[in-house]
Amino acid sequence: MTYTIEQYRQSATVIQERMGSFRPKVAMVLGSGLGFLGDQVEQAVAIPYGEIPHFKPSTAPGHKGRLVFGVLEGQNVAVMQGRMHHYEGYSYEEVAYALRVLRLLGCDTLIVTNAAGCVRTDWQAGDLMLITDQIKMFSESPLRGENLPEFGVRFPDASHLYTPRLQTLARQAAEELRIPLREGVYFYCYGPQYETPAEIRAVRALGGDAVGMSTAPEVIVAGHCGMEVLGFTLLSNMAAGILDQPLSEQEVLDAAAAARDKFSSLIRACLRRLPEELPR
Ligand code: HPA
Repeated sequence: MTYTIEQYRQSATVIQERMGSFRPKVAMVLGSGLGFLGDQVEQAVAIPYGEIPHFKPSTAPGHKGRLVFGVLEGQNVAVMQGRMHHYEGYSYEEVAYALRVLRLLGCDTLIVTNAAGCVRTDWQAGDLMLITDQIKMFSESPLRGENLPEFGVRFPDASHLYTPRLQTLARQAAEELRIPLREGVYFYCYGPQYETPAEIRAVRALGGDAVGMSTAPEVIVAGHCGMEVLGFTLLSNMAAGILDQPLSEQEVLDAAAAARDKFSSLIRACLRRLPEELPR
């Protein structure tokens, strides 16, 4: 299925009618067990995905499935509490649909978070990682099919999908808060099975530091339509084959719960620093 520009506009219109004059600037996509930040939004208006035309429900554990509009650290935000994944049966275009709608509503910045496996043996589960780049080269692009020029060009540059100046801002925020922040490459695997130990060795050889089942499609679409992107990974578990124990969904959700405070302080500090940035 290829969505038309009219469909994106229909979704945006329905949301705008619910929000009145509110105009979001920062879109936030919160990953497994990290949706709690959406509950901290002030003057919140929450819209379940089911009430927005063309939106799909989010079925993954730890994902609420609603958009929350409001104010966080003085910024007008649109928080996706729960995202869609390819492994739920959605196409990449469907996975990234909401991002384009949020762009139409005025968002020019995306903060994206996820829980992922730690590929590096010299790092630990529970660490936070600033995403500096991504690898998603073994599955099709969310931009496949007819290009919609209202969003961007046919062959978009992907040299800086994760915006360098926002990475600088995040490093400064982490340093100020004394939160140790790893940096590395997010390697996308479509799941839903966790990887095999051999796949993790391949990911490592190819340059991945974290491995996960989300984020990369949304970031490609955000880059295509000109949004600046800041990404964080919670390394919720050591990737397959590193420790002599099976991987589990519960481990991921427990790690997210344990990292809750440092994660929310870091994101809030980044939001506070955004206005210091030069206007674009
Ligand atoms: N692999 C893929 N996705 C994940 C993992 C993992 O180890 N942990 C959390 N999401």
